Amino acid sequence: MTFQLPDLPYDYNALEPYMDTKTTELHHDKHHATYTAKLNAALEKYPQFYDMKIEDILKDLSKVPEDVRGAVRNHGGGYYHHNLWWTQFGPGKGGEPTGALAKAIDETLGSFASFKEKLNAAAVGLFGSGWAWLSQDAGGKLVISTTPNQDSPISQGLVPLLGVDVWEHAYYLKYQNRRNEFVDAFWNVVDWVAVAKRFQA
Ligand SMILES: [Fe+2]
Repeated sequence: MTFQLPDLPYDYNALEPYMDTKTTELHHDKHHATYTAKLNAALEKYPQFYDMKIEDILKDLSKVPEDVRGAVRNHGGGYYHHNLWWTQFGPGKGGEPTGALAKAIDETLGSFASFKEKLNAAAVGLFGSGWAWLSQDAGGKLVISTTPNQDSPISQGLVPLLGVDVWEHAYYLKYQNRRNEFVDAFWNVVDWVAVAKRFQA
């Protein structure tokens, strides 16, 4: 079976006022849908990949035939990252993580406030389109990084836990050039229970 666009797990207006209804609608129904369609189109000649998990494809792009590797890197990355994006938010969320994830943030990144500062700086400072990430490395250690375009931390041996999409499509309608305001607002809708589920203590 081809890759499917997951339903938005809440209403289009659920992330207001931090992420506006129109942006959420376009971001899911147009951008995420297009990554999905183009990933499927790229793999049409190699349908054996439809049976794999997108994570496993991105983990080792060298297994993808060269003629479609670039398309899979871009659209497969876009597909996977937006799957993560919608499921890391929820209405009435925000706050701070608890438990093992909170402990790991304190130990590795100093404190929640300092983690927030570092991820914000990475997101605001990224030139052009891409993502800022909180991931875990192979040893389980938390790392903050950025990737350009839809390149995935998972292709670099990391497990992404939380991503900040700083493509203009994620914020331009509401925030225009004020990426920093969007990045500040982002924290108000993060579902830390969902993020903690991705974290392997
Ligand atoms: Fe996006």
